Amino acid sequence: MNLATRYMGLTLKNPLVASASPLSHEIDTIRQLEDHGAAAVVMFSLFEEQIRHDAGALDYFMSVGTDSFGEALSYFPTADGCDVGPSQYLDLIRKAKAAVDIPIIASLNGTTDRGWIDFSVLMEDAGADAIELNIYYIPTSMHQTGAQVEEQYLDVVARVKSAVSIPVAVKVGPYFSSFAHMAGRLDRAGANALVLFNRFYQPDFDIETRSVAPTLVLSSAEEIRVPLLWIALLHGHVKCSLAATTGVHSAVEAIKYLMAGADVVMSTSALLRHGPSWLSRVVTNLTEWMERKGYDSVNQLRGSMSQKSLPDSMAFVRGNYIRILESYKPAP
Ligand SMILES: Cc1cc2nc3c(=O)[nH]c(=O)nc-3n(C[C@H](O)[C@H](O)[C@H](O)COP(=O)(O)O)c2cc1C
Repeated sequence: MNLATRYMGLTLKNPLVASASPLSHEIDTIRQLEDHGAAAVVMFSLFEEQIRHDAGALDYFMSVGTDSFGEALSYFPTADGCDVGPSQYLDLIRKAKAAVDIPIIASLNGTTDRGWIDFSVLMEDAGADAIELNIYYIPTSMHQTGAQVEEQYLDVVARVKSAVSIPVAVKVGPYFSSFAHMAGRLDRAGANALVLFNRFYQPDFDIETRSVAPTLVLSSAEEIRVPLLWIALLHGHVKCSLAATTGVHSAVEAIKYLMAGADVVMSTSALLRHGPSWLSRVVTNLTEWMERKGYDSVNQLRGSMSQKSLPDSMAFVRGNYIRILESYKPAP
């Protein structure tokens, strides 16, 4: 069985990637992820705020050049309240590259185009095989238009792309007026992959203390639906790779995403729940299912259920919606 896949120019042994999470804090865990079958690891994100906090050190480093790498690193203090500061992050990339053979994708999380983008160069110099750019931006201003928000995204992508020569994946949320159009613009701006979708933090209220409660709920398998829809719609319409993130809790979700057209399938919640060995089960179950259904390779499977491949092109949009509503019977 040929599980190999290409993801933004990287050849991966299979389509299963460990997405950005605290699992990449420790080299030992990254090693375990590789041992259990992860084809690549996306490291946890370094945030724009952390880098800007250390802006003086970044300027210093960029001006003295790579010859003084070790010396420059000592100028990067850990940002207040963060376990891992910029210098430790670069160190982790180098250690991870030395420890495993699979690609290591560094992750940057930012929203503006100022003061931190050059850090992507340091990630490349430290050995990252690619960068995942998580544009986590919640526009709350009543004066900012949708068009302005889109320009902001495109500026960030263009700036990072012009700074590095390694591939750049862009992780975004689904909340655009016209996501297909935005995906096309990101593709044309040079994104080597779209990672769909960012799961935005949704605060809750604690009614006893009457405060905003920070909550982190791990995903469930039902949450694949929105990314599944968009991957199925975009497959064959963009030249960049497509990565699916959210809701992969078994081989079933991985298969669905591949059939929709994903080049890779990422997971965090299931890995946090079950540990790295969960990956081995998914690889085995994916292989068994493909054998049972007569597939020889992931390439044969990919996109077989995308909108382009299905005779009923309305199956993804209003057609099925209307059918479902018409067939729905309320409880007696
Ligand atoms: C504890 C935790 C930490 C995360 N940290 C990051 C991060 O640093 N950067 C990032 O882009 N996504 C981060 N994510 C999001 C995951 O990479 C992933 O996109 C999301 O959890 C959906 O996938 P899942 O359903 O497999 O969990 C984090 C998720 C969790 C649960």
